[in-house]
Amino acid sequence: MSEFVLELRGGTPPEDWFTSICAIHDDVFLGEPFAWTPDTSQENAEELRRLSEDPSFSVAMAWQGGEPVGYAYGHRLPPGHGWWRAIPEPLPAAFTAEWDGRTFALVSLAVVTDWRGHGIGRTLLDNLLGSRTEERAVLSVQPTALGTQEFYRRLGWRLIGRNGPFAGITPPRWDVYVLEHLSRPSPAL
Ligand SMILES: CC(C)(COP(=O)(O)OP(=O)(O)OC[C@H]1O[C@@H](n2cnc3c(N)ncnc32)[C@H](O)[C@@H]1OP(=O)(O)O)[C@@H](O)C(=O)NCCC(=O)NCCS
Repeated sequence: MSEFVLELRGGTPPEDWFTSICAIHDDVFLGEPFAWTPDTSQENAEELRRLSEDPSFSVAMAWQGGEPVGYAYGHRLPPGHGWWRAIPEPLPAAFTAEWDGRTFALVSLAVVTDWRGHGIGRTLLDNLLGSRTEERAVLSVQPTALGTQEFYRRLGWRLIGRNGPFAGITPPRWDVYVLEHLSRPSPAL
């Protein structure tokens, strides 16, 4: 495996991390299999700025030769979040029950194209999720991102359902995955 350095931070990241994350995001998500609109870049930057002010926010960054090559970040969901209501199929009440500290939302993850396949994505998630105290994690991924969904399944995430349709959101539906038992490391399949 190639050498890379991983750093983890809780709370608001430094400005150079913010710039690097936005640059990687725009590079990675501008193009198939992802949907992109003229507002995507700005909306992502605004969401990152807003989320990073949440005290429960944390981010992992991967560096190769001093250059940022990947990131993963998220935050704790408040008990009144709407993730489960947005899935049309009924879900067990024991599953949808929420309390403060039950669920971590993985909001974004990306590794630059040239450095994929070196274990960086797995290491980013293992470190980020391993640092959390929540019981489980949730994420949403675009239905067209088949390779990404295979990556998540290899790491033990389970598909819960497809949410939406959301008016004014591109794409209008997303596949929702859950990883239970965050204290356990992801399986090395
Ligand atoms: C998904 C992504 C983060 C994976 O990063 P990565 O550093 O290449 O992944 P890793 O090298 O850590 O791979 C971990 C495992 O997943 C597998 N895997 C990774 N990408 C895969 C793919 N496209 N298809 C199938 N399996 C894949 C690897 O083979 C590896 O399996 P192994 O440990 O059993 O050998 C990266 O491809 C990426 O940034 N994609 C575009 C952005 C994206 O989809 N972000 C998530 C949005 S929700």
